[in-house]
Amino acid sequence: MSDEITPEAPEAAGDAPAAAAPPEAPARARRLRRRARLADQPRIPIEVELIGLAAGGRAVGRAPDGRVVFVERALPGERVLAEIKRNEPSYIEAATVEVRQAAPGRVKPPCPYFGQCGGCQLQHADYALQLELKTAVVAEQLRRIGRFEAALLAPMLGMADPWGYRNHARFTVRRNGDVGFMQQGSHRFLRIDECLIAHPLVNQTLRAVQGRTMQTAQLSVRVGEHTGDVLVQPRLRWRPGRSRHLASGQQTYEEELGEARFRVSASAFFQVNTRQAERLAALVLERVRAAHPQVVVDAYGGVGTFAALLAPHVARVLTIEQSAAAGNDAAVNLAAHENVERRVGSVEALLPELEPSPDVAIVDPPRVGLQPVVVQALINSRVRRLVYVSCDPATLARDLRMLVDGGFALTDVQPVDMFPHTQHIECIATLDRAAAA
Ligand SMILES: C[S@@+](CC[C@H](N)C(=O)[O-])C[C@H]1O[C@@H](n2cnc3c(N)ncnc32)[C@H](O)[C@@H]1O
Repeated sequence: MSDEITPEAPEAAGDAPAAAAPPEAPARARRLRRRARLADQPRIPIEVELIGLAAGGRAVGRAPDGRVVFVERALPGERVLAEIKRNEPSYIEAATVEVRQAAPGRVKPPCPYFGQCGGCQLQHADYALQLELKTAVVAEQLRRIGRFEAALLAPMLGMADPWGYRNHARFTVRRNGDVGFMQQGSHRFLRIDECLIAHPLVNQTLRAVQGRTMQTAQLSVRVGEHTGDVLVQPRLRWRPGRSRHLASGQQTYEEELGEARFRVSASAFFQVNTRQAERLAALVLERVRAAHPQVVVDAYGGVGTFAALLAPHVARVLTIEQSAAAGNDAAVNLAAHENVERRVGSVEALLPELEPSPDVAIVDPPRVGLQPVVVQALINSRVRRLVYVSCDPATLARDLRMLVDGGFALTDVQPVDMFPHTQHIECIATLDRAAAA
């Protein structure tokens, strides 16, 4: 495995020599001297005992000199020999080259590209262990960043069959027509003939295009698991003598979740795991409906996913979405629901002044989480229940702390595995307005 890994150039290599540091910056000079010393050290693999899993999917341990080490392709409870990839004064990044003592849940990664393409970080753990480890990552972020007790956290909900789920893949295309991914942390291209987490229709499309296309550097494939629709962008040009009957250049495709059918534009967001998105949406709906709302706001509403599923069950829904592409899809997807109103623009600008004011809110922001103005608008609003869908437990923990300090109480956090075999973590957090003391 070791020859798969190219140690990166020492970080200090491009820095000024420590002796040239200006006298007014002694701390920086010390840091540079230390880095230069570390960079001089030969990159001998180190033996590490791993004690936990960090956000990002790497196991954590201590180096013999006491520094924290983040190790790729290792698991808590293991002892591994790891090759150093990055050597910093306060931490080390490394990758497993030999497992000296394996954890009980270690398995042989089924994908031949695992450890090279960088899309999956956890294929070396059996699926039950992945769920356990990712739940522990959420617990740790809630505790460390949000100062919340683990008791609020439910175990992550996994998939019955955690393979072939990804309905969207973005590939790189070389001049010779080879299709694949860029290797993690490098500019090296890796040709891919099958991706085990991608939906079979994505792999079928990959096989049809592999080695046959030209004049594009990117290829995006999106599929509707329930509709069989395929969207391939851009419109492909075929290498001489290699043309295929494969439609490409579609502007939209369709997918179904539960009772609703959605049109999705090439550039609009849609959940990448259809089966788990249905589950996620059902859990969100359950939490919203339990509060018997009058007016629900679906902020960061995308193509209208939650709003369309919710509309038949509540009196009134307002959606907020800033992307024009997603907004146009939402206009189509929500057209049949007279009790849904769309607001086009940023949540930051629209939520503080929203009329009629909602009593229940759904927020589903990108990874950066909520801007402070949005947190404040929620605190100042008459929202009684807030359902927060998050794809980053660190920003979730940060925002939950601000919301709780502002008068909400955290009722529960439910992680849902939308991204099996990868480091990524999705959670639904429910908050209720705390009773006045
Ligand atoms: C994680 S997606 C969720 C979409 C939708 N809830 C779903 O499940 O399909 C986030 C959505 O928020 C939109 N968005 C991002 N930042 C925004 C902002 N500041 N104001 C309004 N919408 C925003 C994006 O365009 C995207 O559609």
